Amino acid sequence: MSDFQFSPDLLPQHIAVIMDGNGRWAKRQGKPRIYGHRQAVKAVRETIATASRLRIKAITLFAFSSENWKRPEEEVRVLMDLFMTVLTREVKKLHKNNLRLQIIGDKTRFSEGLQKKIAAAEELTQHNTGTVINIAANYGGKWDITEAVKSIANNVAAGQLHPDEISESMISQHLSMSELPDVDLMIRTSGERRISNFMLWQMAYAELYFTDLCWPEFNEQALLEAISWFINRERRFGCTSEQLQALMIKE
Ligand code: IPE
Ligand code: IPE
Ligand code: MG
Repeated sequence: MSDFQFSPDLLPQHIAVIMDGNGRWAKRQGKPRIYGHRQAVKAVRETIATASRLRIKAITLFAFSSENWKRPEEEVRVLMDLFMTVLTREVKKLHKNNLRLQIIGDKTRFSEGLQKKIAAAEELTQHNTGTVINIAANYGGKWDITEAVKSIANNVAAGQLHPDEISESMISQHLSMSELPDVDLMIRTSGERRISNFMLWQMAYAELYFTDLCWPEFNEQALLEAISWFINRERRFGCTSEQLQALMIKE
């Protein structure tokens, strides 16, 4: 469609990504799983840069699920160390690029040092107006809904609320990322086709995109392909990833 005028309004406002397949990717190279986790950082950087250049409102990256504590102790330790290193190393750059960083999930289970780093990073970037980068860590969709229910139940118990007043929008307001639009596009890498307890409520109407690429292989082109799939699926205007490339602001 050569005369098609591509409008930025067609872009998804909120993208969620299940970054899966690090271990399998590493194994294919004959390397230990943790090699895959280290390589994953590059894909995270490229994904964030691309989302920001497209001026996507928010992107939420699933980094560690509530269930991932069940992994071998050594792998959990490496993931925590990596999280700490990346936070230390990358936050200034995110801030310089006007990006806002938020960590969603139950942070109480992280070490005190990590919790402090998270708080500092969130505070530093809180007034930035560019893309919101949510890192879901020790996050579970069921946990999120449970916390919302607890907090609403407390209001009922305190006599501030009648159960009949509980509405969908009230529940939404008590969930993580209540200030952001719901997810329009969910991407999962590595060929798995499940939600793995990611954002359950916020993804109620999301378009689901699955790619066989493993997360360490994911890059700018892969994200543009996912977004053009979303646009064509939603609006059927026949956009291409080249048109999206033209929309990106220069780095
Ligand atoms: C995703 O890759 C990263 C995390 C869940 C932390 P995996 O570690 O799940 O890799 P696979 O799925 O075993 O290949
Ligand atoms: C989902 O991946 C969680 C993250 C990407 C952080 P998993 O690899 O942990 O999911 P399952 O266990 O295969 O469903
Ligand atoms: Mg996995």
